[in-house]
Amino acid sequence: MSAPVRVCTVDELPTSVGAVVALVDGRKVTIARDSQGRLHAFDDTCSHANVSLAEGEIENGFIECWLHGSQFDMTTGRPVQLPATQPIAVHDLTVDDDGGVYVTVNGSAAGA
Ligand code: FES
Repeated sequence: MSAPVRVCTVDELPTSVGAVVALVDGRKVTIARDSQGRLHAFDDTCSHANVSLAEGEIENGFIECWLHGSQFDMTTGRPVQLPATQPIAVHDLTVDDDGGVYVTVNGSAAGA
């Protein structure tokens, strides 16, 4: 696990459900807000093929890949809908008192 990296402020994130992509330690990480207002950080690339998950649809705690419809649990990274069978890496996300959003990249996908 690497050191926390400041990626943005909460003001720069979607105010409702949505996602942005940040470069953290050289890897593309999606920062997503779910319908409960919780923030998640996970690898932006779908584990099924090389497309951006940030462009997918978020429902509750899940994100659906726009290309073939795989769904991933944004907390664990585990796929819950085929065709993807491999998890995506999820990363630690914290927000400090000044609204700074920090991501700590984990080395591997959940369960890998
Ligand atoms: S590329 Fe994401 S499900 Fe196929």
